Amino acid sequence: MVKLAVLVSGGGTNLQAIIDAIANDKLNACISVVISDKKDAFALKRAEKSNIPTYHIPKGKGLSDKIADKIKGVDYIVLAGFLSILSTNFCQQWNKKMINIHPSLLPKYGGKGMYGMKVHNAVVANKEQESGATVHWVTETIDGGDIIVQGRCKLDSKDTPDAVAEKVHKIEHKILTEALQKIITSKETDIKQTK
Ligand code: GRF
Repeated sequence: MVKLAVLVSGGGTNLQAIIDAIANDKLNACISVVISDKKDAFALKRAEKSNIPTYHIPKGKGLSDKIADKIKGVDYIVLAGFLSILSTNFCQQWNKKMINIHPSLLPKYGGKGMYGMKVHNAVVANKEQESGATVHWVTETIDGGDIIVQGRCKLDSKDTPDAVAEKVHKIEHKILTEALQKIITSKETDIKQTK
């Protein structure tokens, strides 16, 4: 079975979406470990409630190496609202084995400094008529890796940044599961073909 490590910094609703998808047999995977760079991230509580091992590794020097130590034997890494930047070396080692969820229709509203409410504020300020979320492979270029799945939603001219965030969050939960299904299915097909 595919083993996942999930890296988080916040509330962990995307982590919860993965936990639920596994519990409901929608994903043939297990979460081996959840790592947070924030000690008080609610995501850690969600993991503990589901008996998943957790680690707090604070942001700072050696973060990527310390994470690498905790994820031995893992097949894929999911960045589910993880706010620290991982080293180039780490990104290269996990090339096509690490995904990220971003709350916009990349390549729009991506890159350094574009995260969380900053994205939704910019979307509203620019009077966009649609927004959405993207799951993509992680490379050393922030938000720049190949797109795996995108989901979109229509925006109303009255939508506040909070309203946009709520619409986008719902899409994130759906497409994160879809992206993982896609990755896991293609890995299973590869394994069958090499047998
Ligand atoms: C999401 O909006 C995700 O796109 C971004 O960080 C947020 C995390 O939300 N990278 P949650 O902690 O999963 O609720």
